[in-house]
Amino acid sequence: MKIGIAADHGGYELKEKLHDWLQSLGHDIKDFGAYELNNTDDYPDFVIPLARAVVSKEVERGIAVCGSGVGASVAANKITGARAALVNDHFSAHQGVEDDDLNILCLGGRVVGSMLAQELVRSFLNARFKGEERHLRRLEKVQQLEK
Ligand code: RB5
Repeated sequence: MKIGIAADHGGYELKEKLHDWLQSLGHDIKDFGAYELNNTDDYPDFVIPLARAVVSKEVERGIAVCGSGVGASVAANKITGARAALVNDHFSAHQGVEDDDLNILCLGGRVVGSMLAQELVRSFLNARFKGEERHLRRLEKVQQLEK
């Protein structure tokens, strides 16, 4: 799968680990930075380009990491068509895709360890939107707000 990944300094270390792990699984990774640890960098500079790439379908899914995952989700959701959520549990990682068509997973690099992060990413990537009538109806109500 073509996956976009991005992080600020708070998520840099976890992003690097996830990048290597996803590549080892055979995924095609587009890294939107940061490309080095810089404690003064700002998450929108990396997360917004990632969100745009997800919406334009340059990548199929996105993974955005900051210290808590909060800033990344706030920023990504400003982009029309981005559906980003901070996820810390397995259920939400797959149900967010299945019911809500989540396309960007946000993680807190200072919150989750790398093994839990791998489990969350695996659940997110393996999940597919169910697209049942109730899901489409709810999504349509959300999408109305983007017009
Ligand atoms: C950066 O220090 C930190 O504020 C940021 O990574 C993130 O946690 C924001 O939500």
